[in-house]
Amino acid sequence: MNYVKSDCMDYLKTIKDNSVDLIITDPPYYIGFDGGKGWDSQWENEKEYLSWCSKWVKECVRVLKPNRMLTIWGTLKTETFLKFKLETSDLVELFPQNEIIWSYNWGGRDKSNFARKHEYAWCWSKGEKFLFNSEDVLQPRKLKKNLRTGEKYSKGSIPTSVWEKNNHTTSKDYIGWHPTTKNLDVLTRIIRAYSNEKDTILDIFMGSGSTAVAAIRNGRNIIGCESDEEFYNLSSERIQKERKLKTE
Ligand SMILES: C[S@@+](CC[C@H](N)C(=O)[O-])C[C@H]1O[C@@H](n2cnc3c(N)ncnc32)[C@H](O)[C@@H]1O
Repeated sequence: MNYVKSDCMDYLKTIKDNSVDLIITDPPYYIGFDGGKGWDSQWENEKEYLSWCSKWVKECVRVLKPNRMLTIWGTLKTETFLKFKLETSDLVELFPQNEIIWSYNWGGRDKSNFARKHEYAWCWSKGEKFLFNSEDVLQPRKLKKNLRTGEKYSKGSIPTSVWEKNNHTTSKDYIGWHPTTKNLDVLTRIIRAYSNEKDTILDIFMGSGSTAVAAIRNGRNIIGCESDEEFYNLSSERIQKERKLKTE
């Protein structure tokens, strides 16, 4: 494991070309939601934010192995403009794949309209083909046999790309010290589908360390960085505990 307190651009420079098996990362969304720390509002305007995104995305593509997946979390603004940016950019190796929609049902809601309770994990493969371990993510079927042929199903079905997961009521309730913690079940399914055991997974915006925890639980190697000292220290503790549990 190689996890450091660093700015993502500095950290990415230390990684070799075509060396990482899967990237899952959750950048600042530029919506001003960061618990007052300022990491989500450090740009003057959208143009500046997108220009910064272009730089780290380009580096991510460089370090990712061919035929593997780059997964970037996004919501609200980023689901439109970051996606647009990536799909109109000169990163010709990137091929858009089905996005994952994580739907949840907690937190505050405005009474003036339906509550928007989902986020996207945008997925781009490096190259047209990509690893997908369908057998490792099968879920139980509602129907036990094929209604047309009468044949019993011998295995589960591949999930759709819409995943409802609610293992906590609010982000704070879940981890307590980071405002945007991702769900471990969601991360686990992404990891199982798009990587093999012992593969190396990269997260350049580690936050509370959720990608690392899910990676360790699933027997993968994790590398990455986090620029905030407090988050880095707390996530390092969380990751160490997880590693200890795994080796006990
Ligand atoms: C959206 S949060 C990631 C949350 C994470 N997925 C989790 O489950 O806890 C983004 C994180 O990126 C960090 N960050 C912001 N700018 C950064 C940069 N330039 N380099 C590295 N980390 C950065 C922030 O401190 C924040 O913890």
